[in-house]
Amino acid sequence: MTITNQGTGAAQGSVLAAHGIEKTFFTTTPPAKVLNGINLEVRPGEFTVVMGASGSGKSTLLYCISGMDRPTEGTVKLDGRDLTSFNNKQMSKVRLEEMGFIFQQAYFLDNLNVRDNILLPALKAQPRERAKVEARVDALLKRFGIDHIANHGVTQVSGGQLQRASICRALATEPKVLFADEPTGALNASTSEEVMNALVDVHRDGTTVVMVTHDPACAARADRVVYLRDGLVVDEVALGPWTHEHSEQRSDFLLGWLRDHGF
Ligand SMILES: Nc1ncnc2c1ncn2[C@@H]1O[C@H](COP(=O)(O)OP(=O)(O)OP(=O)(O)O)[C@@H](O)[C@H]1O
Ligand SMILES: [Mg+2]
Repeated sequence: MTITNQGTGAAQGSVLAAHGIEKTFFTTTPPAKVLNGINLEVRPGEFTVVMGASGSGKSTLLYCISGMDRPTEGTVKLDGRDLTSFNNKQMSKVRLEEMGFIFQQAYFLDNLNVRDNILLPALKAQPRERAKVEARVDALLKRFGIDHIANHGVTQVSGGQLQRASICRALATEPKVLFADEPTGALNASTSEEVMNALVDVHRDGTTVVMVTHDPACAARADRVVYLRDGLVVDEVALGPWTHEHSEQRSDFLLGWLRDHGF
């Protein structure tokens, strides 16, 4: 296992490249400058984790680089296209068709069953591909072990099942990048492990993942971890591909590294 403190993003071309990202919220008096010039490059297929203290700007960064919000300054390129130059309609299209999202809470529609909650956004993205989309969703439900609850209401399933359904929903459009903001934040330890195993599988299949987490055990699964302080990336560590065999060594290393940052 090789662990380095060198940046990894720029070397092999990036699917996502954020440069000089600043974000100021003008809704407060005085305005709150939350991101202070962040550079972050993500290579295709890479699993990047963003960590940092509460309020350091992790969620804000995730929203700014995923097209959910706009930075005040800086550029965000997806496959070389500058998202910051897109209008709102273009941005919604990119979000729907090329990005996948998982949040701490699943945000499903109560009046639809699990399968339809997953199917709906995918059909919106690919309306002419109904049969293909349905087949893909059914394969995802099976793969993540929730095909038996496909027709259940979303209030009748467990938190872990719901979060696995979120992963299916996020993957149903075959996104270029999967963004996850504290996907295990509301789960207990064993359910959290189950969801992380699912995310590691997704990453192994070649999906690019950018995840925010507070949990070092979850972060240890990533290829690299970047650390935010006061809206700036102050350090990053490359852990390399996760293997079960090295999991303890990685977790110990990461815990030490986080402690050095006062986490
Ligand atoms: N819409 C907003 N308007 C004003 N301030 C905001 C807004 N969103 C976030 N902030 C502020 O920006 C700072 C960073 O918030 P952010 O949610 O990005 O932090 P975080 O690192 O994700 O924290 P946590 O770990 O608690 O989720 C906080 O001080 C927060 O209060
Ligand atoms: Mg947050």
